[in-house]
Amino acid sequence: MHHKGIFLSLVIALIAFSCSPNFQNLMNNSFLQFPLVEIFPFHVNNYWTLFDSNRWCNNVLKNHHHHKHHKHHDDDDDKKIIKSICDDFPPNVPPPDTNTTSYLCVDRNGCCNFTTVQAAVDAVKDFNLKRTIIWINTGVYYEKVKVLKNKQNVTFQGQGYTTTAIAWNDTANSANGTFYCGTVQVFAANFIAKNISFMNVAPIPTPGAIGAQAVAIRISGDQASFWGCGFFGAQDTLHDDRGRHYFKECFIQGSIDFIFGNGKSLYEVHPIILPDEAMT
Ligand SMILES: *[C@@H]1O[C@H](CO)[C@@H](O)[C@H](O)[C@H]1NC(C)=O
Ligand SMILES: *[C@@H]1O[C@H](CO)[C@@H](O)[C@H](O)[C@H]1NC(C)=O
Ligand SMILES: *[C@@H]1O[C@H](CO)[C@@H](O)[C@H](O)[C@H]1NC(C)=O
Ligand SMILES: *[C@@H]1O[C@H](CO)[C@@H](O)[C@H](O)[C@H]1NC(C)=O
Ligand SMILES: *[C@@H]1O[C@H](CO)[C@@H](O)[C@H](O)[C@H]1NC(C)=O
Ligand SMILES: *[C@@H]1O[C@H](CO)[C@@H](O)[C@H](O)[C@H]1NC(C)=O
Ligand SMILES: *[C@@H]1O[C@H](CO)[C@@H](O)[C@H](O)[C@H]1NC(C)=O
Repeated sequence: MHHKGIFLSLVIALIAFSCSPNFQNLMNNSFLQFPLVEIFPFHVNNYWTLFDSNRWCNNVLKNHHHHKHHKHHDDDDDKKIIKSICDDFPPNVPPPDTNTTSYLCVDRNGCCNFTTVQAAVDAVKDFNLKRTIIWINTGVYYEKVKVLKNKQNVTFQGQGYTTTAIAWNDTANSANGTFYCGTVQVFAANFIAKNISFMNVAPIPTPGAIGAQAVAIRISGDQASFWGCGFFGAQDTLHDDRGRHYFKECFIQGSIDFIFGNGKSLYEVHPIILPDEAMT
Protein backbone atom coordinates (compact mmCIF):
# COMPACT_ATOMS: atom_id res chain seq x y z
CA MET A 1 0.00 0.00 0.00
CA HIS A 2 2.75 2.45 0.94
CA HIS A 3 4.85 1.58 -2.05
CA LYS A 4 1.82 1.83 -4.22
CA GLY A 5 1.09 5.23 -2.69
CA ILE A 6 4.59 6.50 -3.48
CA PHE A 7 4.42 5.15 -7.02
CA LEU A 8 1.06 6.77 -7.55
CA SER A 9 2.30 10.13 -6.27
CA LEU A 10 5.19 9.87 -8.68
CA VAL A 11 2.86 9.18 -11.58
CA ILE A 12 0.61 12.09 -10.61
CA ALA A 13 3.67 14.34 -10.26
CA LEU A 14 4.73 13.40 -13.79
CA ILE A 15 1.28 14.11 -15.15
CA ALA A 16 1.21 17.41 -13.27
CA PHE A 17 4.55 18.31 -14.85
CA SER A 18 3.42 17.63 -18.40
CA CYS A 19 0.28 19.62 -17.66
CA SER A 20 2.30 22.62 -16.45
CA PRO A 21 1.79 25.89 -18.34
CA ASN A 22 5.28 25.81 -19.91
CA PHE A 23 4.73 22.47 -21.53
CA GLN A 24 1.23 23.43 -22.61
CA ASN A 25 2.33 26.75 -24.10
CA LEU A 26 4.66 24.86 -26.34
CA MET A 27 2.14 22.30 -27.45
CA ASN A 28 -0.60 24.90 -27.66
CA ASN A 29 0.90 27.39 -30.08
CA SER A 30 -0.92 28.57 -33.14
CA PHE A 31 1.74 27.15 -35.39
CA LEU A 32 0.74 23.61 -34.49
CA GLN A 33 -2.95 24.28 -34.46
CA PHE A 34 -3.28 26.04 -37.76
CA PRO A 35 -1.45 24.00 -40.35
CA LEU A 36 -1.87 20.52 -38.96
CA VAL A 37 -5.62 20.63 -39.25
CA GLU A 38 -5.02 21.33 -42.92
CA ILE A 39 -2.51 18.56 -43.24
CA PHE A 40 -4.43 15.80 -41.56
CA PRO A 41 -7.92 16.04 -42.99
CA PHE A 42 -8.37 12.32 -42.39
CA HIS A 43 -6.70 12.12 -39.04
CA VAL A 44 -8.01 15.14 -37.22
CA ASN A 45 -9.43 13.18 -34.33
CA ASN A 46 -6.30 11.17 -33.85
CA TYR A 47 -4.27 14.26 -34.14
CA TRP A 48 -6.11 16.30 -31.58
CA THR A 49 -6.15 13.48 -29.06
CA LEU A 50 -2.41 13.54 -29.29
CA PHE A 51 -1.54 17.19 -29.48
CA ASP A 52 -4.27 18.93 -27.56
CA SER A 53 -2.44 18.74 -24.28
CA ASN A 54 -5.24 20.67 -22.55
CA ARG A 55 -7.73 18.01 -23.40
CA TRP A 56 -5.33 15.21 -22.58
CA CYS A 57 -4.44 16.71 -19.22
CA ASN A 58 -8.06 17.45 -18.34
CA ASN A 59 -9.05 13.87 -19.06
CA VAL A 60 -6.27 12.34 -17.04
CA LEU A 61 -6.73 14.70 -14.12
CA LYS A 62 -10.50 14.32 -14.22
CA ASN A 63 -10.14 10.54 -13.96
CA HIS A 64 -7.84 10.89 -11.02
CA HIS A 65 -10.20 13.32 -9.34
CA HIS A 66 -13.09 10.97 -9.97
CA HIS A 67 -11.23 8.11 -8.29
CA LYS A 68 -10.58 10.23 -5.23
CA HIS A 69 -14.30 10.31 -4.51
CA HIS A 70 -14.32 6.59 -3.84
CA LYS A 71 -11.87 6.25 -1.01
CA HIS A 72 -13.34 2.95 0.14
CA HIS A 73 -12.27 1.35 -3.14
CA ASP A 74 -8.78 2.75 -2.90
CA ASP A 75 -6.86 -0.38 -3.84
CA ASP A 76 -9.00 -1.15 -6.88
CA ASP A 77 -8.86 2.45 -8.01
CA ASP A 78 -5.08 2.59 -7.71
CA LYS A 79 -4.81 -0.50 -9.86
CA LYS A 80 -7.17 1.02 -12.42
CA ILE A 81 -5.16 4.24 -12.74
CA ILE A 82 -1.85 2.45 -13.03
CA LYS A 83 -3.27 -0.03 -15.51
CA SER A 84 -4.79 2.71 -17.67
CA ILE A 85 -1.43 4.48 -18.07
CA CYS A 86 0.15 1.36 -19.62
CA ASP A 87 -3.04 0.26 -21.37
CA ASP A 88 -1.80 1.08 -24.85
CA PHE A 89 1.39 -0.77 -24.19
CA PRO A 90 1.67 -4.20 -25.83
CA PRO A 91 3.06 -6.85 -23.45
CA ASN A 92 5.30 -8.50 -26.09
CA VAL A 93 7.45 -5.36 -26.57
CA PRO A 94 10.42 -5.38 -26.67
CA PRO A 95 10.80 -8.84 -28.22
CA PRO A 96 13.92 -10.85 -27.35
CA ASP A 97 17.11 -10.01 -29.27
CA THR A 98 17.98 -12.15 -32.28
CA ASN A 99 21.32 -12.83 -33.93
CA THR A 100 20.90 -9.83 -36.17
CA THR A 101 18.70 -7.43 -34.21
CA SER A 102 18.50 -5.91 -30.71
CA TYR A 103 15.42 -4.17 -29.37
CA LEU A 104 14.95 -1.26 -26.98
CA CYS A 105 11.69 0.28 -25.99
CA VAL A 106 10.64 3.85 -25.15
CA ASP A 107 7.41 4.83 -23.45
CA ARG A 108 6.95 8.25 -21.94
CA ASN A 109 4.73 6.89 -19.16
CA GLY A 110 7.52 4.58 -17.99
CA CYS A 111 5.89 1.35 -19.21
CA CYS A 112 9.14 -0.09 -20.62
CA ASN A 113 12.94 0.38 -20.76
CA PHE A 114 13.21 4.16 -21.27
CA THR A 115 11.10 7.30 -20.99
CA THR A 116 13.13 9.36 -23.48
CA VAL A 117 14.38 8.55 -26.96
CA GLN A 118 17.83 9.95 -26.14
CA ALA A 119 18.24 7.53 -23.20
CA ALA A 120 17.54 4.62 -25.53
CA VAL A 121 20.00 5.93 -28.14
CA ASP A 122 22.65 6.30 -25.43
CA ALA A 123 22.10 2.64 -24.48
CA VAL A 124 22.88 1.38 -28.01
CA LYS A 125 26.18 -0.48 -28.14
CA ASP A 126 28.89 1.60 -29.83
CA PHE A 127 29.68 0.65 -33.43
CA ASN A 128 27.23 -2.22 -33.22
CA LEU A 129 27.12 -4.31 -36.39
CA LYS A 130 23.66 -5.54 -35.49
CA ARG A 131 20.63 -3.36 -36.05
CA THR A 132 19.09 -1.85 -32.91
CA ILE A 133 15.36 -1.21 -33.23
CA ILE A 134 14.18 1.47 -30.83
CA TRP A 135 10.44 0.92 -30.49
CA ILE A 136 8.78 4.21 -29.53
CA ASN A 137 5.28 4.19 -28.14
CA THR A 138 2.58 6.69 -29.10
CA GLY A 139 3.10 10.20 -27.73
CA VAL A 140 5.06 13.41 -28.18
CA TYR A 141 8.59 13.18 -26.89
CA TYR A 142 9.56 16.72 -26.06
CA GLU A 143 13.34 16.49 -26.26
CA LYS A 144 16.32 17.19 -28.47
CA VAL A 145 17.90 13.96 -29.74
CA LYS A 146 21.39 13.32 -31.09
CA VAL A 147 22.36 10.05 -32.76
CA LEU A 148 26.15 10.36 -32.71
CA LYS A 149 28.48 8.63 -35.19
CA ASN A 150 29.17 5.65 -32.89
CA LYS A 151 25.45 4.75 -32.72
CA GLN A 152 25.18 3.23 -36.19
CA ASN A 153 22.47 0.89 -37.47
CA VAL A 154 19.68 2.37 -35.36
CA THR A 155 15.99 2.26 -36.29
CA PHE A 156 13.34 4.54 -34.74
CA GLN A 157 10.06 2.63 -35.01
CA GLY A 158 7.09 4.87 -34.19
CA GLN A 159 3.40 3.95 -34.09
CA GLY A 160 2.33 6.31 -36.89
CA TYR A 161 3.37 9.78 -38.03
CA THR A 162 0.19 11.32 -36.64
CA THR A 163 0.54 9.72 -33.22
CA THR A 164 4.27 9.50 -32.45
CA ALA A 165 6.56 12.53 -32.61
CA ILE A 166 9.78 14.00 -31.33
CA ALA A 167 9.45 17.76 -30.87
CA TRP A 168 11.62 20.67 -29.78
CA ASN A 169 11.73 24.38 -30.55
CA ASP A 170 15.31 25.56 -31.11
CA THR A 171 15.99 28.17 -33.78
CA ALA A 172 19.23 29.31 -35.39
CA ASN A 173 19.18 32.12 -32.84
CA SER A 174 18.62 29.96 -29.78
CA ALA A 175 21.01 27.16 -30.85
CA ASN A 176 23.92 29.22 -32.17
CA GLY A 177 23.31 28.46 -35.83
CA THR A 178 21.08 26.57 -38.23
CA PHE A 179 23.35 23.50 -38.06
CA TYR A 180 22.63 22.98 -34.36
CA CYS A 181 18.95 23.80 -34.08
CA GLY A 182 17.60 20.47 -35.33
CA THR A 183 15.20 18.69 -32.99
CA VAL A 184 16.83 15.43 -34.06
CA GLN A 185 20.38 15.31 -35.40
CA VAL A 186 21.69 12.12 -36.98
CA PHE A 187 25.44 11.72 -37.51
CA ALA A 188 25.51 7.91 -37.61
CA ALA A 189 25.37 5.71 -40.72
CA ASN A 190 22.48 3.42 -41.59
CA PHE A 191 19.80 5.28 -39.65
CA ILE A 192 16.20 4.27 -40.36
CA ALA A 193 12.98 5.90 -39.16
CA LYS A 194 9.51 4.44 -39.62
CA ASN A 195 6.07 5.87 -38.85
CA ILE A 196 7.24 8.76 -36.69
CA SER A 197 7.26 12.56 -37.00
CA PHE A 198 10.06 15.02 -36.41
CA MET A 199 8.88 18.49 -35.44
CA ASN A 200 10.27 21.88 -34.74
CA VAL A 201 7.55 23.79 -32.91
CA ALA A 202 9.25 27.19 -32.72
CA PRO A 203 6.80 29.96 -33.68
CA ILE A 204 6.41 30.69 -37.39
CA PRO A 205 8.81 33.53 -38.20
CA THR A 206 7.50 36.90 -39.24
CA PRO A 207 8.55 37.91 -42.77
CA GLY A 208 12.20 38.93 -42.90
CA ALA A 209 12.97 37.61 -39.42
CA ILE A 210 16.64 36.83 -38.90
CA GLY A 211 17.86 33.64 -37.24
CA ALA A 212 14.40 32.06 -37.26
CA GLN A 213 15.46 28.89 -39.08
CA ALA A 214 14.01 25.98 -37.17
CA VAL A 215 15.16 22.56 -38.33
CA ALA A 216 13.10 19.47 -37.46
CA ILE A 217 15.83 17.00 -38.44
CA ARG A 218 19.43 17.23 -39.61
CA ILE A 219 20.67 14.12 -41.39
CA SER A 220 24.45 13.95 -41.63
CA GLY A 221 25.00 10.20 -41.71
CA ASP A 222 25.23 8.09 -44.88
CA GLN A 223 22.48 5.72 -46.03
CA ALA A 224 19.57 6.94 -43.97
CA SER A 225 16.03 6.03 -44.92
CA PHE A 226 12.61 7.28 -43.82
CA TRP A 227 9.38 5.36 -44.27
CA GLY A 228 6.00 6.89 -43.53
CA CYS A 229 7.53 9.76 -41.58
CA GLY A 230 6.44 13.37 -41.02
CA PHE A 231 8.69 16.45 -40.94
CA PHE A 232 7.04 19.54 -39.49
CA GLY A 233 8.39 23.04 -39.23
CA ALA A 234 8.22 26.39 -40.97
CA GLN A 235 11.62 27.60 -42.15
CA ASP A 236 14.32 25.01 -43.03
CA THR A 237 12.37 21.98 -41.85
CA LEU A 238 14.57 19.25 -43.25
CA HIS A 239 18.33 19.68 -43.22
CA ASP A 240 19.53 17.02 -45.67
CA ASP A 241 23.12 17.75 -44.76
CA ARG A 242 25.42 15.03 -46.07
CA GLY A 243 25.15 11.47 -47.42
CA ARG A 244 22.67 9.41 -49.38
CA HIS A 245 19.13 9.38 -48.05
CA TYR A 246 15.86 7.87 -49.10
CA PHE A 247 12.38 9.11 -48.22
CA LYS A 248 9.33 6.99 -48.95
CA GLU A 249 5.74 8.13 -48.39
CA CYS A 250 6.71 10.91 -46.03
CA PHE A 251 5.04 14.26 -45.33
CA ILE A 252 7.16 17.39 -45.26
CA GLN A 253 5.77 20.72 -44.07
CA GLY A 254 7.50 24.05 -44.46
CA SER A 255 7.52 27.49 -46.00
CA ILE A 256 10.97 28.83 -46.87
CA ASP A 257 13.78 26.52 -48.08
CA PHE A 258 12.06 23.71 -46.35
CA ILE A 259 14.39 21.05 -47.74
CA PHE A 260 18.02 22.14 -47.92
CA GLY A 261 21.56 20.81 -47.64
CA ASN A 262 24.10 18.83 -49.68
CA GLY A 263 22.64 15.34 -49.32
CA LYS A 264 22.18 13.16 -52.40
CA SER A 265 18.68 11.99 -51.76
CA LEU A 266 15.73 10.41 -53.41
CA TYR A 267 12.38 11.82 -52.31
CA GLU A 268 9.03 10.16 -52.78
CA VAL A 269 7.15 12.56 -50.58
CA HIS A 270 4.08 14.73 -50.18
CA PRO A 271 5.21 18.30 -49.58
CA ILE A 272 2.96 20.65 -47.61
CA ILE A 273 3.75 24.29 -48.19
CA LEU A 274 2.49 26.70 -45.58
CA PRO A 275 0.31 29.37 -47.20
CA ASP A 276 1.50 32.98 -47.03
CA GLU A 277 -1.17 33.87 -44.45
CA ALA A 278 0.64 31.62 -42.01
CA MET A 279 3.67 33.83 -42.26
CA THR A 280 2.10 37.05 -41.03
C1 LIG B 1 -4.30 27.24 -25.33
O1 LIG B 1 -5.12 27.76 -26.35
C2 LIG B 1 -6.46 28.02 -25.95
C3 LIG B 1 -7.26 28.43 -27.18
O2 LIG B 1 -6.46 28.96 -28.20
C4 LIG B 1 -6.45 29.10 -24.85
O3 LIG B 1 -7.78 29.35 -24.43
C5 LIG B 1 -5.64 28.60 -23.67
O4 LIG B 1 -5.55 29.60 -22.69
C6 LIG B 1 -4.23 28.21 -24.14
N1 LIG B 1 -3.51 27.60 -23.03
C7 LIG B 1 -2.31 28.02 -22.64
C8 LIG B 1 -1.70 27.29 -21.50
O5 LIG B 1 -1.72 28.93 -23.21
C1 LIG C 1 22.31 -17.57 -33.76
O1 LIG C 1 23.65 -17.71 -33.31
C2 LIG C 1 23.88 -18.93 -32.60
C3 LIG C 1 25.30 -18.92 -32.02
O2 LIG C 1 26.20 -18.34 -32.93
C4 LIG C 1 23.64 -20.11 -33.57
O3 LIG C 1 23.85 -21.33 -32.89
C5 LIG C 1 22.22 -20.05 -34.09
O4 LIG C 1 21.99 -21.07 -35.07
C6 LIG C 1 21.93 -18.69 -34.72
N1 LIG C 1 20.51 -18.60 -35.04
C7 LIG C 1 20.06 -18.22 -36.22
C8 LIG C 1 18.56 -18.14 -36.37
O5 LIG C 1 20.80 -17.88 -37.12
C1 LIG D 1 14.38 -3.75 -21.71
O1 LIG D 1 13.25 -4.41 -21.18
C2 LIG D 1 13.25 -5.82 -21.42
C3 LIG D 1 11.92 -6.36 -20.93
O2 LIG D 1 11.65 -5.92 -19.65
C4 LIG D 1 14.44 -6.45 -20.71
O3 LIG D 1 14.49 -7.83 -20.97
C5 LIG D 1 15.72 -5.80 -21.27
O4 LIG D 1 16.85 -6.29 -20.57
C6 LIG D 1 15.66 -4.28 -21.11
N1 LIG D 1 16.83 -3.71 -21.80
C7 LIG D 1 17.56 -2.72 -21.26
C8 LIG D 1 18.73 -2.26 -22.08
O5 LIG D 1 17.30 -2.21 -20.20
C1 LIG E 1 25.96 -1.51 -39.63
O1 LIG E 1 26.79 -0.42 -39.99
C2 LIG E 1 27.93 -0.78 -40.73
C3 LIG E 1 28.78 0.47 -40.91
O2 LIG E 1 28.00 1.55 -41.38
C4 LIG E 1 27.49 -1.40 -42.04
O3 LIG E 1 28.63 -1.79 -42.79
C5 LIG E 1 26.61 -2.62 -41.77
O4 LIG E 1 26.11 -3.14 -42.98
C6 LIG E 1 25.45 -2.23 -40.87
N1 LIG E 1 24.68 -3.39 -40.47
C7 LIG E 1 23.36 -3.45 -40.59
C8 LIG E 1 22.70 -4.69 -40.04
O5 LIG E 1 22.69 -2.56 -41.11
C1 LIG F 1 10.90 27.14 -26.50
O1 LIG F 1 9.83 26.93 -25.60
C2 LIG F 1 10.12 27.35 -24.27
C3 LIG F 1 8.95 26.94 -23.38
O2 LIG F 1 7.74 27.44 -23.85
C4 LIG F 1 10.40 28.86 -24.26
O3 LIG F 1 10.74 29.27 -22.97
C5 LIG F 1 11.54 29.16 -25.23
O4 LIG F 1 11.74 30.55 -25.32
C6 LIG F 1 11.23 28.61 -26.61
N1 LIG F 1 12.39 28.82 -27.48
C7 LIG F 1 12.30 29.38 -28.67
C8 LIG F 1 13.57 29.53 -29.43
O5 LIG F 1 11.23 29.73 -29.15
C1 LIG G 1 28.51 29.95 -30.73
O1 LIG G 1 29.31 30.11 -31.90
C2 LIG G 1 30.41 30.97 -31.73
C3 LIG G 1 31.09 31.18 -33.09
O2 LIG G 1 31.18 29.97 -33.81
C4 LIG G 1 31.37 30.39 -30.68
O3 LIG G 1 32.44 31.26 -30.46
C5 LIG G 1 30.60 30.19 -29.37
O4 LIG G 1 31.40 29.57 -28.41
C6 LIG G 1 29.33 29.35 -29.60
N1 LIG G 1 28.53 29.30 -28.40
C7 LIG G 1 27.98 28.19 -27.94
C8 LIG G 1 27.15 28.31 -26.71
O5 LIG G 1 28.13 27.10 -28.48
C1 LIG H 1 3.19 2.34 -40.64
O1 LIG H 1 1.84 2.53 -40.27
C2 LIG H 1 0.93 2.08 -41.26
C3 LIG H 1 -0.45 2.52 -40.85
O2 LIG H 1 -0.69 2.30 -39.51
C4 LIG H 1 1.07 0.56 -41.38
O3 LIG H 1 0.18 0.08 -42.35
C5 LIG H 1 2.51 0.25 -41.80
O4 LIG H 1 2.69 -1.15 -41.80
C6 LIG H 1 3.51 0.87 -40.85
N1 LIG H 1 4.82 0.74 -41.44
C7 LIG H 1 5.94 0.65 -40.70
C8 LIG H 1 7.18 0.50 -41.49
O5 LIG H 1 5.94 0.69 -39.48
